[in-house]
Amino acid sequence: MPNFSPIISVQNDGLTIPEVGPWAERKYSLLGAYCDIFTSSMKNKWDKLIYLDLFAGAGYAKIKGSEKIIKTSSLISMSIPNVFNKYILSEMDNSKFSSLSERVNREYPNLDVCLFNGDTNKNIDSIISEIPKSTLEKGVLCFCFVDPFSINLDFTTIEKLARNRVDFLILFATGMDINRNKGIYFEGDDEKVEKFLKSPNWRDEYKKVADKQTILDYFACKYDENMLYLKYVKPERKQQIRSSDKNLPLYHLAFYSKHKLGNEFWKKILRYGNNGQLDLF
Ligand SMILES: C[S@@+](CC[C@H](N)C(=O)[O-])C[C@H]1O[C@@H](n2cnc3c(N)ncnc32)[C@H](O)[C@@H]1O
Repeated sequence: MPNFSPIISVQNDGLTIPEVGPWAERKYSLLGAYCDIFTSSMKNKWDKLIYLDLFAGAGYAKIKGSEKIIKTSSLISMSIPNVFNKYILSEMDNSKFSSLSERVNREYPNLDVCLFNGDTNKNIDSIISEIPKSTLEKGVLCFCFVDPFSINLDFTTIEKLARNRVDFLILFATGMDINRNKGIYFEGDDEKVEKFLKSPNWRDEYKKVADKQTILDYFACKYDENMLYLKYVKPERKQQIRSSDKNLPLYHLAFYSKHKLGNEFWKKILRYGNNGQLDLF
């Protein structure tokens, strides 16, 4: 397996540094390992490799309960030995966005980086317009990391991106949002789930299967169905990430590719980095 280590410690630079739980290191390890295997294996097979980060954050984060500060998703993806040809990052929060921009300019001045400050779901057409159009034969392959705090991710955002050749690593806020807020989503008229699953009738649909499926199983099956409809291959098991202190399920990471090779890479990464937390949601 590659020698690249995705957990990169840094000094406090006085800019915005959000806190994350210790479990986040697991997420960064899987993401970094995947980016590394992706670019090293694909660099001669495609004209251009593009990295998209739809919920990019500030670039640095501090691990809660420690003094450790590390690079986060987009800066990890810029630190791999074989870099992507272009990076497209989107972050809504102004202070995180300006810290991210400053860090990118300071630490990776030679990379081709396009930054968006705003709501990814609203800006998706402009974000997509930054994906280069290949005039050569081999084409453009994108890897898109999708890491929201909640299910604040419209399926139409994924659907539009999927018109290009894009592999996705999506973090589902299963414990943090779906499980915690299921009552509110189910009883109220909140449109978040409707948009997340692109399913106006999800409440009636779920009622029909509720005796056989938990709400998380229903979300997982529905999402996979949506992705299969977009011509993605059947995904591998979703990786569960639990809180380090109380061992509570927080998130699931799901990988989707239109080609089975993408799934093979992801399986390899899970075998390599799995610490016994592999399971379905
Ligand atoms: C879980 S953090 C992920 C940060 C980063 N990927 C990392 O590696 O730590 C989610 C980020 O998405 C941002 N965000 C939330 N809603 C957003 C939206 N609609 N569009 C763009 N960014 C958003 C938040 O400000 C936050 O920085």
